[in-house]
Amino acid sequence: MLTALVTGGAGFIGANFILLARKNDWLNIINLDKLTYASNLENLAELRGDRNYNFVQGDISNIELVSYLLNQYKPDVIINFAAESHVDRSIFSPQVFIQTNVVGTFNLLEASRFYWQKLSPQKQQNFRFLHISTDEVYGSLQADAAAFKEDTPYTPNSPYASSKAAADHFVRAYYHTYKLPTLTTNCSNNYGMRQFPEKLIPLTILNALDGKYLPIYGDGQNIRDWLYVIDHCEAIYLVLQQGKIGETYNIGGMNEQTNLAVVNKICGILDELVPKPNFSYSSLINFVPDRPGHDRRYAIDCSKIKHDLGWQPKENFDSGLRKTVQWYLDNSAWVNQVSTGAYQNWLKQNYENRK
Ligand code: NAD
Ligand code: DAU
Repeated sequence: MLTALVTGGAGFIGANFILLARKNDWLNIINLDKLTYASNLENLAELRGDRNYNFVQGDISNIELVSYLLNQYKPDVIINFAAESHVDRSIFSPQVFIQTNVVGTFNLLEASRFYWQKLSPQKQQNFRFLHISTDEVYGSLQADAAAFKEDTPYTPNSPYASSKAAADHFVRAYYHTYKLPTLTTNCSNNYGMRQFPEKLIPLTILNALDGKYLPIYGDGQNIRDWLYVIDHCEAIYLVLQQGKIGETYNIGGMNEQTNLAVVNKICGILDELVPKPNFSYSSLINFVPDRPGHDRRYAIDCSKIKHDLGWQPKENFDSGLRKTVQWYLDNSAWVNQVSTGAYQNWLKQNYENRK
């Protein structure tokens, strides 16, 4: 079994990936996570006692720590999930996005390069640096424009997207300049269990259950392409195993939805699962002032990963969304743990002036 250094594995996608990887005995894992507000070690509680899983608290920007871990654990692959990931936070406080997403990825690449150069020829050949990125680097699409392909020019519009774009460029440069065996994936919006409730879907579920208003930015007609997180994790593992070195792969759900449609679907599911007499959760919908620079539409053309690696999403949106709502209903302890004072402060900062 290969050993992977996974960064950011206590967050939403990283934790789902680690749980899947350990369940299937795909990888022996060292999880390096700074444990920011978005992380939750409870996500990984079921791995307590698993001898093929180790957790280290630390920052990917800390090149000494990363170098130490590489020399200590001698991983065969690195999977970089670690990032500041929320667009709205990047508008309020862009600096930490530069620090983690750009400087952090750069330092991780530097440490990896020095480590990789000292490996045996066989280990060097098998080594992979897999960088997890986003479709937001491609910017915003007109309603009738073709979906993003791997060669669509980068036109990031938010501080978050710009920081991810910069990181992607460094990954590319390390392949072309140093021949570090890199891979990059650019994925659309993920949804599913364990997502921090600052993002649209869990925020809507939890606000609705609390009887709070459901904030929809602008006219609610912005479009996102939604992919179930487990489908994303399976695609990542496939790219790790079979992806062509130096290449990028777009991953998407082929599932474009307006934000208003997504919120209405959640309300419909809650009306069934947690009915209240003479009340529909959709009555809580509230149109609020828009996100500055709000990208209108994302759509992913994932024909490359489909044709070259044989991947396609398995979950459909209606059943995936129902499972997601059910997960938040079944995991009130998790919800209570993340709904701390810091989270309440964030809600105040982002929504108070939007009422
Ligand atoms: P998340 O915010 O839920 O989790 C990020 C994790 O990274 C957290 O556990 C956090 O503690 C950790 N982290 C942050 N800064 C760190 C640092 N300096 N050093 C070490 N760890 C650090 O994010 P997510 O939604 O799970 O996204 C994971 C990755 O996937 C990100 O790179 C993101 O850009 C990308 N992505 C996310 C989506 C999505 O819809 N969520 C879609 C496409 C791509
Ligand atoms: O496209 C991939 C990206 O998807 C990832 O790279 C990001 O890490 C991830 O956060 C996500 O970015 P978005 O900005 O699309 O996700 P978010 O859940 O914040 O918003 C989804 C849409 O819903 C977006 O058009 C903004 C809108 N929205 C969001 C919130 C939080 C609202 O209308 N109201 C809200 O309160």
